[in-house]
Amino acid sequence: MKYYADFENKGGNLYSGEVDLVDLARREGTPLLVTSERRLVDNYNSIYESFSKRYKKFKINYAVKANSNPTILSIFRRMGSGADTASMGEIYIARFSGFGSDDIIFTPNFAPRETLLEAYRMGIRINFDDIGQFQFIADIKPRHASFRINPGMGGGEFPGIVTGGHDTKFGIPEEHALRAYKLARKYGAGEFGIHMHGGSNNLSEEYFRLITQKFFGIARRIMDELNIEFSFIDIGGGFGVPYREEEKPLDMERVADYVTENLKNIIGSEEPMLMVEPGRYLVADSTVLLGRVNYIKNYGKKIVGTDIGMNILLRPALYGAYHRIVVANRLDSPPADTVRVVGQICENTDRIGDEIKIQEASEGDIIAVFNAGAYVYSMSSNYNGFPRPEEVLITRNGEIIIIRERERYHDLISGATLNRYMF
Ligand SMILES: Cc1ncc(COP(=O)(O)O)c(C=O)c1O
Repeated sequence: MKYYADFENKGGNLYSGEVDLVDLARREGTPLLVTSERRLVDNYNSIYESFSKRYKKFKINYAVKANSNPTILSIFRRMGSGADTASMGEIYIARFSGFGSDDIIFTPNFAPRETLLEAYRMGIRINFDDIGQFQFIADIKPRHASFRINPGMGGGEFPGIVTGGHDTKFGIPEEHALRAYKLARKYGAGEFGIHMHGGSNNLSEEYFRLITQKFFGIARRIMDELNIEFSFIDIGGGFGVPYREEEKPLDMERVADYVTENLKNIIGSEEPMLMVEPGRYLVADSTVLLGRVNYIKNYGKKIVGTDIGMNILLRPALYGAYHRIVVANRLDSPPADTVRVVGQICENTDRIGDEIKIQEASEGDIIAVFNAGAYVYSMSSNYNGFPRPEEVLITRNGEIIIIRERERYHDLISGATLNRYMF
């Protein structure tokens, strides 16, 4: 029986393809992140095919922030993806994963002058977050200028992941957009791009119709008033995935239809490159996080204590996010218990699920958390002295490979120095 994405119930255990994940967790140890390459490929193809059959000049730049494992980046690179980066550290990871400067786009927020100069000198295209950010490097007369425009609206699953609209720190408000491009032209820029990103995890197709209509309208006005063309129009990421059982997946064909129709109607025949920066959509459901039940406490409210806490899965503590959780070795039993699932962290926000129904669990059972591919490892920490988990990939032909080793205790003190006078 299929559970979710590439994960299914075979004889009561959770499997991905032919791989018994309960067995894998017991062999490799927990916590463990297991990624299905096949699902990464299917997700990439779903966006690429929906858009490229409607609009030829189309490019995906995978948003590295969602999951920066170099093997995962390389899988997308080999499929033709570029990399969307938010920091010099992400640029470093993208280059390590084989992306050339031409295939990296940099969308920083409040970056210092030195970082912008360094990225420009590396030949990386920058989506400037503000007019003053462009002015930081204006003296070297950049040939190319692209700005992140805040289209005055946004959308996302939680207020914390809405990045467009009137109460955010991102981009240039639409009423100042013209001034940005005028200035860039004054400093000699001759090639232009335009960017927006309205927020993350949107499951409404209509949202993409409305926000691109607004954004392309802004782009059109800039083109008309300044008599310029855009070599690319970048609509960011934000394509959602279902986290709750009752949610419906995004209809990517319909999203692509809305976006490309808007582009053709509003921008017309100039044919800029249409770019998207999906993070979550490409990686979230490719990965499951496996943990072990350590102990159960029951004084009225049943608390299932595991080796997965907010140090690995921060999203529930950060936004109240929901992740579906199952007992991976008891899938044949119906979910019977309403419990809180926690880790070992000394914070009362250390909950990875609350008031959730799962199969009755006992010490030593393996739990599985779905949608663990996006904003999980990349948001994890060593808080309370826990090493980060191992990451494994199940390749398209069923091989199991370790794509990042489990951290060891010595990683917790890496870079630390002890002053001998302290003894
Ligand atoms: C500029 C930019 N592009 C792309 C993304 C990826 O968003 P998502 O994972 O929702 O696709 C983000 C996420 O915050 C972002 O800030």
